[in-house]
Amino acid sequence: MNLWGKLTTRFDPLILILLIGIVHTSCVHNEYHSKTQLKTTKTIKYSIHIKPILQKYCIECHGVEGTESELDLRTLESILKGGESGPSIIKNKPNESLLLKQIEDQIMPPEGAPLTKKHIKKIRLWILSGASS
Ligand code: HEC
Repeated sequence: MNLWGKLTTRFDPLILILLIGIVHTSCVHNEYHSKTQLKTTKTIKYSIHIKPILQKYCIECHGVEGTESELDLRTLESILKGGESGPSIIKNKPNESLLLKQIEDQIMPPEGAPLTKKHIKKIRLWILSGASS
């Protein structure tokens, strides 16, 4: 048996343990990483979480078939610009945001099914966290 053969037989168990160790730590590390990633992607975003709600409940009257009160709810820019009463949301200030107030007071939508509590909470958190795009 040559030297290499001797070495590998001798250290085989050791190498195995080392390898298991490396694989194990990288797995644990990866899991940790994907967990933190999940946390950061939980940030509420307009494009992912809010736009679909407004498209379902609002844009028929605010953008597509008309723009009631001059309010177009089809883009984040037009939401921030607002309508006759001014900006419809104020970043970080849900309680000063007309859009949320109208929904919470069940003024909007004026007909059809109201938004669910989950939707409303999502919109509130979105505004509170800075209304990211
Ligand atoms: C069926 C039509 C219709 C739908 C659907 C609708 N709205 Fe409206 N919206 C109106 C009308 C009409 C007004 C004007 C009301 C008034 O002047 O009294 C208005 C006014 C508003 C205003 C006040 C704008 C301003 O600047 O004065 C906000 C905010 C608003 N709507 C938000 C929403 C939101 C958010 C949704 C979806 C959850 C929604 N609306 C769905 C018809 C609609």
